[in-house]
Amino acid sequence: MFNGSSQRILDELRSWVAAAPAGTRLPSTRALVARHGASPVTVQKALRTLTAQGLVEARPGVGTFVRAVRTARPNDYGWQTAALGSPPNRRAQAFTALRTTPNDVIALHAGYPDRELLPERLVRSAFARATRSDAAVGRPPAAGLPELQAWFATELGAVTPPGLASPAASDVIVLPGSQSGLSTIFRALVGADRPVLIESPTYWGAILAAEQTGVQLVPITSGPHGPDPDELDRAFTRTGARAFYAQPNFANPTGAQWPPDLADAVLGIVREHGAFLIEDDWAHDFGITAEAAPLAARDDGGHVVYLRSLTKSVSPAIRVAGLIARGPARDRILADAQAQSMYVSGVLQTAALEVVTQPAWHTHLRGLRHQLAARRDLLVGALREHVPDSHLDAVPHGGLNLWLRLPDDTDLTRLARDCEAAGVLVAAGGEWFPAEPTGRYLRLNYSGPNPGAFPDGARAIGQALAAQ
Ligand SMILES: Cc1ncc(COP(=O)(O)O)c(C=O)c1O
Repeated sequence: MFNGSSQRILDELRSWVAAAPAGTRLPSTRALVARHGASPVTVQKALRTLTAQGLVEARPGVGTFVRAVRTARPNDYGWQTAALGSPPNRRAQAFTALRTTPNDVIALHAGYPDRELLPERLVRSAFARATRSDAAVGRPPAAGLPELQAWFATELGAVTPPGLASPAASDVIVLPGSQSGLSTIFRALVGADRPVLIESPTYWGAILAAEQTGVQLVPITSGPHGPDPDELDRAFTRTGARAFYAQPNFANPTGAQWPPDLADAVLGIVREHGAFLIEDDWAHDFGITAEAAPLAARDDGGHVVYLRSLTKSVSPAIRVAGLIARGPARDRILADAQAQSMYVSGVLQTAALEVVTQPAWHTHLRGLRHQLAARRDLLVGALREHVPDSHLDAVPHGGLNLWLRLPDDTDLTRLARDCEAAGVLVAAGGEWFPAEPTGRYLRLNYSGPNPGAFPDGARAIGQALAAQ
């Protein structure tokens, strides 16, 4: 990151380098410090940036020189189009939820919680301990650190009803985030050109993973109360699919939590069709007025493949998720995970385990619940006041998002652009639909920075809508 003066020095040096013949020696750091009235640190930072950009090269003890080999013409990669052919899908390459933003923007689009909602102190000391431990120089087992495997298994075991077998630590595979788990599961259990049933709307990253792995998406309508079991049953019969990807708790984007009888009905259908339920429990730690109740706890027959991520609740820097599967499915998933990433860094696994096994972790989660409730209610209230033409099917009992329906004639692209011009980032709902969107929606995340600005954000949405 550059502040005003370092950016100015960088710009000036870049113009100077562009005009100079290759091999020209740059003025010394001392001369640049004097010329720009800047500190040596600022000048050296600018030089490092130019070096990283390939514009200059540093010769230790001699000086810094304009690089001899410089690109004189724009590169032409057109031949790659012929070599690669048409892309398998034409989805936008940059997904709204992953956009990074300057500080002064009201960010309602994001996917990962703001820093103030993370257990920052715990994470920092966990990292410090992990880097001092043997994990810093060791290679963990492919399926994960045994202690972390055991922790994931125990978490699910704690809510397993009596009479059902709790998962074993050896059923757990530690993965570098649940996103990679989705791709792995689609490859290992579904396979290219084979159908997978998927809630609609659903997480854009699951749609992307399915498309990238070549599996065929079969949308199952899902709303604030979850999917219709009869439609699910018919889709299994019609398509011969052997897997259903779903988020039974606090779904992204709708916030839906399936009631227990729907959970039982879906499990029954999945079993009847000899199929898998791929359960994405991404928001396990984000219950607000309800606890997440994993379906995987009600199945010991190997039908549910369960994914639980720590990246959102612990830290986005700790890309660690646990996958629980039983039987041959688990072996196939492990084989694919090894083919992709071999194993997850022991430092990350150790740090994750350090955080979630501290008593302070539970204290943090209790505080988080209150913060999320306050943020959610603030945004809901602001939307009701400032966007009266919008509609919330339900206020979610957990998760991080509101799924706001707008009038059917809303031009969402224009609305998102107008909001951005007013300093508010929103995510247009189309990215969450595996087929044509069935309505005009915004996904609004209430875990971003600066909740005090939510009313201003809602006001900007209301104004942009009124201007259509
Ligand atoms: C529903 C859902 N599943 C999975 C993921 C991916 O999470 P991770 O960071 O563990 O890869 C996300 C992230 O936004 C998500 O919303």
